[in-house]
Amino acid sequence: MNIDRHRRLRRTSALREMVRETFLHKEDFIYPIFVVEQENYKHEVPSMPGVYHLSLDLLLEEIQEVVSLGLKSVILFGVPNEKDDVGSCAYDENGIVQKATRLVKQQYPELVVVADTCLCQYTSHGHCGVVEDGYVQNDKSLKLLAKTAVSQAKAGADIIAPSNMMDGFVAAIRQGLDEAGFVDVPIMSYAVKYASAFYGPFRDAAHSTPQFGDRKTYQMDPANRLEALREAESDLNEGADFLIVKPALSYLDIMRDVKNNFNAPIVAYNVSGEYSMIKAAAQNGWISEKEIVLEKLISIKRAGADLIITYFAKDAARWLSENE
Ligand code: PBG
Repeated sequence: MNIDRHRRLRRTSALREMVRETFLHKEDFIYPIFVVEQENYKHEVPSMPGVYHLSLDLLLEEIQEVVSLGLKSVILFGVPNEKDDVGSCAYDENGIVQKATRLVKQQYPELVVVADTCLCQYTSHGHCGVVEDGYVQNDKSLKLLAKTAVSQAKAGADIIAPSNMMDGFVAAIRQGLDEAGFVDVPIMSYAVKYASAFYGPFRDAAHSTPQFGDRKTYQMDPANRLEALREAESDLNEGADFLIVKPALSYLDIMRDVKNNFNAPIVAYNVSGEYSMIKAAAQNGWISEKEIVLEKLISIKRAGADLIITYFAKDAARWLSENE
């Protein structure tokens, strides 16, 4: 009888390790941190257990922990006290992300600081660009985004990560950075970003829920697959150094498409809703958190991601150390 004996290679743990195709490393993770302008402030985001709003005076403690766990990179999100029509605090030299970046880079020059470049936390209407006549204006928004990126690079950000989904944002930001002398600062573009309900908890955390309408005129329709290739191609042509696919878990097919079609580091954003669902189930004792999280992280890498932005980064680093 001719049976294919696949189980031969699964018989022992050593054999399974020898034929393993995908691995998780601490270097794979980018840890998101929400910084606020208050003082002595550390409060858990209600819809994201284990994720905090942190004031600057408490930030370095957190960074110390991140570094000691062996993580190499964080992405900073600012939650400003003041918002206006044009998101002025996003490109203020003393804006919250700029201040946080300076502080972290002074103390931890080796840590890679990624700055999220968007306006939605900073605009009173909560949209990612300039709004006129009830519509987000593409080209007017580009100028402000470039300005934001330059101010973040000036503060010492190692990577600029624009998440606003305006057309031409990579070109505009690349030009802005180059003219300001930051030719060596890479752009990690949110190239493929869907209009997703999985961002709900993040919007609670970042206070960035749109005050009217939704983001469907700039973020992508979850039904589309080919459009992802067009978005990724434009961003690479415009000078993106990394391509983000976001969210991760419902979009693993897209991750693989992007990986197969383009030669650039691919970054998965394992978003807030994907985090909160697991947390909620784990808190109810319905699932085994550690195993579920490690399984989903490996599946994201298997799908083609080189790096993963994830709120589980610290937990995963701890679990990987335990397994060492
Ligand atoms: C800002 C931005 C969002 C996220 C990252 N940057 C929210 C949005 O587009 O509404 C979502 C991240 C998450 O859900 O974890 N544009």
